[in-house]
Amino acid sequence: MKTINRELFNFKLKTKNQLPTPPCVGRKQKTMINLNNVHKSYVTGSNSLHVLKGIDLEIKRGEFVSIMGSSGSGKSTLLNILGILDNYDQGSYYLNGMLVKDMSEKQAAKLRNELVGFVFQSFNLISFKNAMENVALPLYYQGVNRKKRNKIALEYLDKMGLLDWAEHMPNEMSGGQKQRVAIARSLISKPKIIFADEPTGALDTGTSYEVMEILKEINNDGITVILVTHEHDIAAMTHKIIRLNDGVIAEIIKNGDLKSWKHQYAKELETA
Ligand SMILES: Nc1ncnc2c1ncn2[C@@H]1O[C@H](COP(=O)(O)OP(=O)(O)OP(=O)(O)O)[C@@H](O)[C@H]1O
Ligand SMILES: [Mg+2]
Repeated sequence: MKTINRELFNFKLKTKNQLPTPPCVGRKQKTMINLNNVHKSYVTGSNSLHVLKGIDLEIKRGEFVSIMGSSGSGKSTLLNILGILDNYDQGSYYLNGMLVKDMSEKQAAKLRNELVGFVFQSFNLISFKNAMENVALPLYYQGVNRKKRNKIALEYLDKMGLLDWAEHMPNEMSGGQKQRVAIARSLISKPKIIFADEPTGALDTGTSYEVMEILKEINNDGITVILVTHEHDIAAMTHKIIRLNDGVIAEIIKNGDLKSWKHQYAKELETA
């Protein structure tokens, strides 16, 4: 495992390269996500593709969860439903106690603004805006004036160790820096939950571990983090691994089971 360049961060990193203890252990954890028999099909022309085939899932507030599974197993579809970016066809989904079903785009946008932050593999930064403006964007949509939102954006960039990069455009930054800008943007509206679709998928191993350290810190602050990954070593840093297989949950591996799981995947971990 590569050494993490701690100078890149202003975080007080408490744990390093060890499995964290869920922050809510010992306290009664409230349910953040509850899915009951959720189905989703994509219809194109006369074809219908049944992608999610009855998902039952409960995730508590403050959990750090990864979703794994082969390509096409429905990971992004599930994450998009959880993040209210897409609808589902059947079943029920409660987010923070609220039923998410057949919402108007306005209702969905309001709930997303209040609760949710997103991080993507390809960063999804706006290429013609600098780092500070990218981070400030969610506050623009909330009607916060430019001076105030830029000031807050600088605070978040500072937390990511990127204050000196505030005026730089995305194409002047490395993958790891861009992902930290994207994480700052996802945090600026103070979400209760972060959804990350392969946040380390475009990064080298060392930079991936740096991004995971940031996500761990965010989780240690009590924010629920749910990420999709193809990488076993990345998944092993989370508290719970949900393995999707052809649209159903094949397995849920808890932190305590990771030893046997690691043994099972020893080969992959060796090569990671
Ligand atoms: N908008 C869409 N319209 C039609 N089919 C779709 C759409 N999005 C995804 N699919 C199909 O649904 C299935 C599941 O896709 P999904 O993106 O959820 O998989 P995934 O597990 O995230 O895969 P990967 O690991 O490659 O990202 C795939 O067969 C995909 O082609
Ligand atoms: Mg995907």
